[in-house]
Amino acid sequence: MKEYLAEDFRKVTTHRLWEMKQRGEKISMLTAYDYTMAKIVDGAGMDVILVGDSASNVMAGNVTTLPITLDQMIYHAKSVVRGVERAMVVVDMPFGSYQVGPSEGLVSAIRIMKESHADALKLEGGKEIIGTVSKIIEAGIPVMGHLGLMPQSINKYGTYSVRAKEQSEADKLVEDAKLLEEAGCFAIVLEKIPAGLAGKVAAMLTIPVIGIGAGGDVDGQVLVVQDMLGMNKGFSPRYLRRYMDMYDLMTEAFKQYIYDVKSCDFPNEKEQYE
Ligand code: KIV
Repeated sequence: MKEYLAEDFRKVTTHRLWEMKQRGEKISMLTAYDYTMAKIVDGAGMDVILVGDSASNVMAGNVTTLPITLDQMIYHAKSVVRGVERAMVVVDMPFGSYQVGPSEGLVSAIRIMKESHADALKLEGGKEIIGTVSKIIEAGIPVMGHLGLMPQSINKYGTYSVRAKEQSEADKLVEDAKLLEEAGCFAIVLEKIPAGLAGKVAAMLTIPVIGIGAGGDVDGQVLVVQDMLGMNKGFSPRYLRRYMDMYDLMTEAFKQYIYDVKSCDFPNEKEQYE
């Protein structure tokens, strides 16, 4: 196994991410939704942990990210924060917690920050939500933008296919990225867009651009932790690299346990009290 040895053990901040972009060090980011996973991910040296609203899919089994509530995101965020020492913890603002307007967005943002003790928030969208993004940043809360495929708008798109292949959509994405930087976002996630376009945005902005399905010419990468561990056999987008085959490993362990229980092999003498 090749290991990256972090030299900086201090808490990751927005400024440190900006410094990483300046010196060309790529930013590592993964999702986590619970204490145990967050502790392992942080202990491995991850720079950013995202409490993604993908919890709606991978933790709750919903088809989309839309049903997850503000209270549920706060629950996941609190659990993650308890397990993290070094990584920056970013929390997704869920669908319905900021779309009505800046005041509603700020109230939701303050709730997440006050109750979870997370470090920053992520919102999906560009021009349409720029007033809300500005209001949250003015209140002193760091915001990460999210453009390209925006799963909270899946009912508008009708498909999870690659975004911004057409020039007009690519132009809008570039404009939105500029607006988000001007509004004060400390970073932007670009999801599932052509690699050339993502590289152009990363070169244009001074803030870090983190990609998922956006190629290698960006400032960092993010994946959903269950996907990269191979826990979900039914999800195989081209951009996904599986680092383990956890589905099979876990199934093997569960089958062995069932066998041991049924055959009275577990518990043995050493695994019980006198
Ligand atoms: O919710 C999530 O997991 C995300 C990542 C895919 C970036 O937003």
